[in-house]
Amino acid sequence: MPVHPASPPQLTSGDLVLRAFRDSDVADLLSVFDDEDVARWSPGPHSEPEVIEWMRGRNDWSDRTHASWAVSDTAGRVLGSVSMHKFDSDQRDCELGYWVAPWARRRGIAARAVRHVVDYGFTEMGLHRIYLFHAIENVASCGVAYAAGFRVEGELKLSYRYPDGTYHDEHLHAILAAEAPALG
Ligand SMILES: CC(C)(COP(=O)(O)OP(=O)(O)OC[C@H]1O[C@@H](n2cnc3c(N)ncnc32)[C@H](O)[C@@H]1OP(=O)(O)O)[C@@H](O)C(=O)NCCC(=O)NCCS
Repeated sequence: MPVHPASPPQLTSGDLVLRAFRDSDVADLLSVFDDEDVARWSPGPHSEPEVIEWMRGRNDWSDRTHASWAVSDTAGRVLGSVSMHKFDSDQRDCELGYWVAPWARRRGIAARAVRHVVDYGFTEMGLHRIYLFHAIENVASCGVAYAAGFRVEGELKLSYRYPDGTYHDEHLHAILAAEAPALG
């Protein structure tokens, strides 16, 4: 029976913890959203009150439109975030997004966390398809998508206006429940 909790359940994947955002994350989140690559491809708020409001939204799943987690190490430090959003309960699909903090990159964290969230979406939330978009220049995001098992479904022309104010071509990637091996 599909579930969509009202707040993030804590999940563990080896030495990664997927959990709700906490007040103690604020300073790290301000650093993350100041990072050049995050600001370019996955922007967030830049003041403490805005970050607190942003966390409140990420932790509140009660409208059933999204499912978002902080990714941390076992000591509790934020390493990244994975979010499923634009839930369509009729089609049983959603979009997925992610970022990893500059201090945690190139250690496979995005790929592992995305695989875990995808597994949760298919096995617990009853999803049929999960898709994501990234600007074609964002080769790091493309690598994460492939590493997490998402196929490329197509190349979109000037499909999204990014924070630089211009439209970029994007890849559409997706994974079906039938394609996703259970993570165990
Ligand atoms: C994209 C991002 C999430 C990658 O996080 P990460 O934890 O460093 O990624 P992983 O270590 O899981 O990398 C998985 C694969 O992606 C590719 N990859 C990751 N970073 C890369 C980079 N800087 N350049 C080229 N390929 C890269 C590699 O193929 C990598 O596998 P490998 O290390 O075995 O070669 C991170 O760079 C980020 O937060 N960028 C800014 C925000 C963003 O672009 N979000 C996505 C918006 S669509």
